[in-house]
Amino acid sequence: MSITILGIESSCDDTSAAIIKDRKILANLIANQDVHQQYGGVVPELASRAHQQNIVPVIDNALSKAKVNKNQLDAIAFTNGPGLLGSLLVGASFAKTFALALNIPLIEVNHMQAHVLALFIDDAAHGKTPSFPFLCLTVSGGHTQIMLVKDHFDMELIGQTIDDAAGEAFDKAAKIMGLPYPGGPIIDKLAREGNPGAFKFPHPVVPGLDFSFSGLKTSFLYLVRDKLKDDKDFIQKHQKDLAASMQATIIDILMKQLHKASRQTGIRQIAIAGGVSANSGLRDAVYAEQEKGNWEVYIPKFEYCTDNAAMIAITGYYKYLKGDFARQQSTPFTRYNQ
Ligand code: KG4
Ligand code: ZN
Repeated sequence: MSITILGIESSCDDTSAAIIKDRKILANLIANQDVHQQYGGVVPELASRAHQQNIVPVIDNALSKAKVNKNQLDAIAFTNGPGLLGSLLVGASFAKTFALALNIPLIEVNHMQAHVLALFIDDAAHGKTPSFPFLCLTVSGGHTQIMLVKDHFDMELIGQTIDDAAGEAFDKAAKIMGLPYPGGPIIDKLAREGNPGAFKFPHPVVPGLDFSFSGLKTSFLYLVRDKLKDDKDFIQKHQKDLAASMQATIIDILMKQLHKASRQTGIRQIAIAGGVSANSGLRDAVYAEQEKGNWEVYIPKFEYCTDNAAMIAITGYYKYLKGDFARQQSTPFTRYNQ
């Protein structure tokens, strides 16, 4: 007997709904919120209002696209954290109400676990699925962490950022250069035509397997500020080199810790997940290790890398198999270690 689940993601600024049948995604729709662009970052209050407007049409469209009637659903999975509280509450309230009305189980999903489990969606990573244990570098706008994944629900956090996330470093650099939010994809594009060695930025000294990006952000800001004093067109003239140098430094920091984690654990199966795993430079760097025969690499398809409900639905599927259901009293949480 197959299992059909509706997944709902609303932890930040994307309202997403997906329908999964066993491990196969039938629909995965995302409503982005343009309202934040003019502010250079996500405004929490505006995000939750936009989720309220988007959630019903997104779910309705996902059901239609999947050709699934609501009465055919076996369960509803939703993100209960970490994320922005107001945004999480919209998805959680809808999921609870819908599950109650349909009289089907409700499943809570941890957003960061879901980024990792996206690898198990049918055909998520070009037909390849990692076996346990593997290491997963999860890099997004809110998180940068290395997870030692022993089982679908047995994940040990072995390294994390002590300040900013890698995605934030991309977004802040873009903002300093006057580029719109989110800046990561724009930096990625510009970097392809720039010189990664044009500008040098100091690397952080962090113990263990942790990361730090706030110092890098500050040195980028100071470099641009100082150069603008002599040449007001500095950014326009050096946009591609600035993007390439910043991206190369971020990738270097990520790769160093990933190498260290692989050496320390003896694990050579490496996955990357989260929005920043869409970065072409980071992808090239990890695939280069595979070519050299050092690592076996797993990266989900682009649509399963950035925030999406398909990853919530696959996590819901594995929780359904375990009978791990939530109660109506379930409350969202904002931070990973809560
Ligand atoms: O996982 P995600 O969609 O949302 C969070 O949970 O944060 O990640 C969004 C982050 C943003 O910081 C965005 O700039 C970054 O991922 N991002 C990229 C690229 N695509 C998205 N960063 C660098 N290069 C990209 N191609
Ligand atoms: Zn995310």
